[in-house]
Amino acid sequence: MIRVQVPATTANVGPGFDALGIALDLYNVFYMEEIDSGLIIEGVDEEFRNEDNLIYQSMVTTFEEVGYKPKGIKIKVESNIPVSRGLGSSATCIVGGIMGANALAGNVLDKYDILKIATEIEGHPDNVAPCIFGGMVTSIYDKGEIHYSKIPVKNDYSFCPIIPDFKLSTSEARGVLPEVVDYKNAVFNVGRVALLISSLVNGEDELLALACDDVLHQPYRGGLIRDYDNIVNAVKEAGVKGVFLSGAGPTIMTIVRENDDYIKIMNDYVSMLEDNWIMKDLKID
Ligand code: HSE
Repeated sequence: MIRVQVPATTANVGPGFDALGIALDLYNVFYMEEIDSGLIIEGVDEEFRNEDNLIYQSMVTTFEEVGYKPKGIKIKVESNIPVSRGLGSSATCIVGGIMGANALAGNVLDKYDILKIATEIEGHPDNVAPCIFGGMVTSIYDKGEIHYSKIPVKNDYSFCPIIPDFKLSTSEARGVLPEVVDYKNAVFNVGRVALLISSLVNGEDELLALACDDVLHQPYRGGLIRDYDNIVNAVKEAGVKGVFLSGAGPTIMTIVRENDDYIKIMNDYVSMLEDNWIMKDLKID
């Protein structure tokens, strides 16, 4: 039996659309084994217990890549990451499936091979790269190759996601984005993403609020999330170091240093809203 533990991720980190991601200490765990025949999937809803399952599909792609033919497969999932909330649960299924299949096939792939297969399945590397390498990672998919670099974050931040009880699919959240961006908007994001990386490496907390700003995706996606502006304004008033939409949303991610009072203040605030929102207190994995 193979056991693979894969972290949640928060992608984009504000201005780093499709390029930045951070692994967090919240995990999905996958158990995989070869059986005599057929496919058994446990620990997921009925609708995901079939050959279309993303974990299984990622295993099939990997087996084809390495030329291994299992007789049958059993998968058991321990799911702790909320689904379709912008915390990389799909990326964990992809990476977990590839790593499990690779282990069953005799560990023929290295981490770069795994990153490449995962990116081809996901379409962009910003969730899967930190899933595989841990920490904060910047990654670019260019002409079939992925170029990535780990970013050493200096301070011990808490990442406190504010997670609603409704889902938002990545395809819907990508569907509201414009096809063409203004030159001044591109310049806005380039400056902020550079400042964000530099301030995280140097531990310059006072720069994070400005550096998390973005005009390429958040303004469009915010409109899909009831109370998005209200929550962003409330966390700023509560004194967070930075706030951004986690991945494609709808989770709103906040960066804090001293979090005891903050979590209480924000829990009280979101308890008054129409949707149910919960908070978690996570660290970089
Ligand atoms: N970079 C991706 C997006 C992350 O924002 O659409 C979600 O998969």
